[in-house]
Amino acid sequence: EKGAIDFGERPHSLSGIADAIQACRRCPIGCNGTNAVAGEGADHAALMIVGEQPGDTEEQQGRPFVGPAGRLLRSHLEQVGISDSKAYVTNAVKHFKFTDRGKRRLHQSPTAKEIDTCRWWLDGERALVRPRLILALGASAARSLLGKTVSVQKERGVAHPLDDGAELWITTHPSYLLRLQDDGRTTEERRFSEDLQRVAARIAE
Ligand code: URA
Repeated sequence: EKGAIDFGERPHSLSGIADAIQACRRCPIGCNGTNAVAGEGADHAALMIVGEQPGDTEEQQGRPFVGPAGRLLRSHLEQVGISDSKAYVTNAVKHFKFTDRGKRRLHQSPTAKEIDTCRWWLDGERALVRPRLILALGASAARSLLGKTVSVQKERGVAHPLDDGAELWITTHPSYLLRLQDDGRTTEERRFSEDLQRVAARIAE
């Protein structure tokens, strides 16, 4: 597919990929030597949900979307009736990129090159889970799946067909919602929920 880099042979199981990413040093983020976070969920889920990268909590626990953004995401999924058994949750980038600010580790966005490099692993997960539907949360995930940078606001709300027959949907990242306040937050959470409802309707078809 467009923008994909071929690194040769990949493990043939999700657990093999989970092991292999721990040792991956193909990009500068992996070279930090932090805990890599693999995807998690139903083996042949109809829906794959792709975030950007693990956050501080995810890196510590070794599981995707278990911090504040994850809680917001999961509550919205529940509201639209998408249960954990229907979804496989993962990230465009498997290691946590941050700057050290005293006690806190502050999130840094991955570069396009880092996203394109780590796509090797996302493509591996896609080939094994074979989801019918993929939901990209935010611009990094959208880039990973489309092989180019797009505007989330322009591309949300419509289906994007992918080469393997899967259908890609794009929406905002829950961390973005967490940074908004008052009316802005209410409006954007409603739009997020509407995007999830569209995906829920496609799962049901
Ligand atoms: N944000 C992400 O993009 N992914 C996670 O796993 C957690 C927070």
